[in-house]
Amino acid sequence: MAPRAKAAKAARKSSARSLRILVVSGPNLNRLGKREPHIYGSTTLSQIHTELAKSAAERGAAVDCRQSNHEGDLIDWIGAAEDDGFAAILLNPGAFTHTSYALYDAVKGSSLPTVELHLSNPDAREEFRRESKIAPACLGRIAGFGAASYGIALRAVLDRLLGEST
Ligand code: DQA
Repeated sequence: MAPRAKAAKAARKSSARSLRILVVSGPNLNRLGKREPHIYGSTTLSQIHTELAKSAAERGAAVDCRQSNHEGDLIDWIGAAEDDGFAAILLNPGAFTHTSYALYDAVKGSSLPTVELHLSNPDAREEFRRESKIAPACLGRIAGFGAASYGIALRAVLDRLLGEST
């Protein structure tokens, strides 16, 4: 199913129940705050998760935020997300962005709209970061706004699900 069609389907279902968004962060993102702060900033992942929970609650939604350094965990979570009652997925795949056909397959095979997000702007960095294996399966991509990329991605997906986007 095309990413826009997935969003339309999820939006129809979501009006009937409270919106839950799965937020998945991949390898090395547990080290945010300490890891290359000149690139990724000083905000920790746990601070990002706290802000996301507040922003979601303000719009009557909820987030379930998870992080793993293991590709299989990300694939399992994405694969189970619809059955687990989520309406959409926000995904920062870390370096798996540039390497993982398995993660692409997981996103492509999910019926849920997925937003790819990054703190940095991979297109403005090393050559190998310019390719995303995941992007063709996603509804859209937010990158380059530091920790704020997570909040922007949440807002964008809620706008879409609640029918408030243009
Ligand atoms: C990242 C960008 C990736 O290229 C990198 O491997 C990461 C973080 C980001 O959020 O900017 O681990 O996904």
